[in-house]
Parts: sequence; structure tokens; C-alpha cells
Amino acid sequence: MNPIRKPIIAGNWKMYKTVTDGLALVTALKKELIGVNHADVEVVVCPPFTALYATGTMLQGSSIKLGAQNVHWEKEGAFTGEVAAPMLKESGVNYVIVGHSERRQYFGETNEGVNKRAKAALASGIRPIICVGETLAEREGGHTEKVLETQVRGSLAGLSKDHMAETIIAYEPVWAIGTGKTATTAQAQDTHAFIRGLLGKMFDETVARRARIQYGGSVKPSNARELMSQPDVDGALVGGASLEARSFADIIKNSI
Ligand code: PGA
Repeated sequence: MNPIRKPIIAGNWKMYKTVTDGLALVTALKKELIGVNHADVEVVVCPPFTALYATGTMLQGSSIKLGAQNVHWEKEGAFTGEVAAPMLKESGVNYVIVGHSERRQYFGETNEGVNKRAKAALASGIRPIICVGETLAEREGGHTEKVLETQVRGSLAGLSKDHMAETIIAYEPVWAIGTGKTATTAQAQDTHAFIRGLLGKMFDETVARRARIQYGGSVKPSNARELMSQPDVDGALVGGASLEARSFADIIKNSI
């Protein structure tokens, strides 16, 4: 954690929670956070598309922000099943996850597509959370840095320095997602520092110093504090542990 970068804890609900479930979860989360001063930590929840609008209504007047889990790159059009950035914006969305490893793995998303989605989000005033991460085979084969460099360069291609001020990077080692295996704090710190160094080369030192890089992959209340204490870890993208108000609130509390 670094004083110039406000940590951001985002809950990725994935394909969980109906509208009713989502409303119950944010109601419980707001209750858990009563009396907790999290002004120094940004909190975001990312429900499925169907629950976005209702959840956003429930979040009005609170400091919890709303995120979506994907966005198409066109403003509108004949793209059955897709959702455009202006639609998200009007639904109250502030952030959108793009390039999550599940999207890359199961839906064939490429760095080029992730890049287009991120640009579309930025054009609508939505902050993209761009996910990158290596598989276990890639880490064990010693290819982590090469894989991440390709993903970061491809996903951020053509973004301006101003865009970078609005962009979050989530480092999520694929082998740590939903597996209960967390990267060690040293692995997380080293990899975050590598990504930050890369941003320095691609943009400049100011961009690198200001960029928020979240860690994701089996973040829980029990490991949040140690991960967040690392100098280059600026928050967490939380899956499983964000589906329950108490555990998500505990992660927030342990990140303050
Ligand atoms: P997890 O998921 O916390 O359940 O490992 C993280 C993510 O996929 O963003």
C-alpha cells in the first residue's frame, strides 16, 4: 500500500446473485460497514448485468461504488447478448472489469478485444479494471514476466496518460483464482513491482507511480492484511469471499 494510491477493494460476484440476492447482500454489507471509516479505501461491488441497476439504486448515498463485469466496445448495434458502455453508464456503473481470466479462457477474449473494451469504457467515463495473469504452467515454465508483458502491452495499447489515471490493473494469477491457493506476499509484491516497472517503460514514472494495481486470487479476510501491506499492492479483486457480506467487510477492514 502506498499513500499516493488509494487502495481499491472490488467484489467480483461473477455469475452469482439474482436481483433479490444482490439487494440482500448490499444491504448486509452496508450494515457491516456502519461505523467503519473506509474513506481511505475505495469499495466497489460488481454484480451481474441483471442486478446492476437495482444494486446501484441501493448504493445511492453510500460510498460503495458500482462495477460491471464486462462491456462491449461498440456504443450500440446488432451484437446480440452484449452490453454497451453508455448502457452501463446510465445504470450507474463507475467501474468495469475487462479481460478477466474466465473471459479469456472460456470466451476467447484476446488482448486486442480487452483493449477495445477498456477504451470503450473510458470513452463513457467508466474506469476499466484490466485483468492480467499467468497460468500455473506459465509460472512453472518461467514465463510469467513474458506473458504479463504481452498482456499488459496488448491490453493498454494506445491508452493515453490521462486514460491511465482512470485505469486499474488487476494482477490475478490464474492458478490462484477460486483455488484457495494465494500467491505468497513475496510473489505478489515481485509481480506487482514488475508490472509497475513495465508501466514506467511504456508511459513514464509518474504514470507508474500513480497506477493502482490490485491483487486477485483467493483473497480472504485472513490473508488480506499481509497482501495489502506490500508496497506495490493497491487493493484486491475478490471473488468467492465477496459473496458474503461479513467476509467482504472483513477484507475491507483488514485493508484499512
Ligand atoms: P477468487 O476470485 O477470489 O474467488 O479467487 C478472484 C477473481 O476471479 O476475481
